[in-house]
Amino acid sequence: MRIYLEADYAAMSRRAANLIAAEVIRRPNCVLGLATGSTPIGTYENLIARNRAGDLSFREVRTVNLDEYKGLAPTHDQSYRYFMQTNLFDHVDILPENTNVPDGLAADADAECARYDALVASLGYADLQLLGLGRNGHIGFNEPDDHFTKETHVVDLTDSTIDANARFFATRDDVPRQALTMGVGCIMAARRVLLIASGADKADALYNAVCGPISPNCPASILQLHGDVVVVGDEAALHRIVEAGVSVCR
Ligand code: GLP
Repeated sequence: MRIYLEADYAAMSRRAANLIAAEVIRRPNCVLGLATGSTPIGTYENLIARNRAGDLSFREVRTVNLDEYKGLAPTHDQSYRYFMQTNLFDHVDILPENTNVPDGLAADADAECARYDALVASLGYADLQLLGLGRNGHIGFNEPDDHFTKETHVVDLTDSTIDANARFFATRDDVPRQALTMGVGCIMAARRVLLIASGADKADALYNAVCGPISPNCPASILQLHGDVVVVGDEAALHRIVEAGVSVCR
């Protein structure tokens, strides 16, 4: 596991964008696994700037997103499809038909999960999977549990996740209680995983993910079993890891 320590959110975002751009340049038709949340927004801004400057093309790139709220339409301003359109896809030369997000409105959510698993498998899984980190250690919407779930599945969101995401909705009651999320199977099948984290409120989750026991209590800890994980964090997010004496790249 390679860990990059960056000064702040801007530097974290630049580093993450560099790593994604390197993948796209090396493999123009790569499959990118993409994430939502506030953490990747700066990364996407950097990628948009490179695309606009003519230094990076997404023309052949295919994407698979991690998750979607159950019950939100793609046009809902808090849906993850809408997030991806407004924070990345609408601003770069990616082809709409090459972007994939689970359908939160599918009448049969379990069938949609099975379709999504088959789709990601048919693309050969992600060449690079970008991940944010929940404050409770979740990845995608794989919440702390007594077991890991391999397949894409419908998940009940925990109170802590509903609290954390309530800031994006008018009221806490508006936050969907369920989501469709890739399981850890698809995430672990990615060739490379890029985990990004910023801010002191991620320090415990990041420490547990990198240094703690591998446990479904901290879903991100399963990444310790992946052979090619890059962590990019800022000083606030990485401070416990640095204090523990883990070696980091500066
Ligand atoms: C959501 C997403 C995750 C994301 C997490 C952290 O719950 N499903 O994929 O990593 O939030 O969000 P943020 O980056 O806003 O802290």
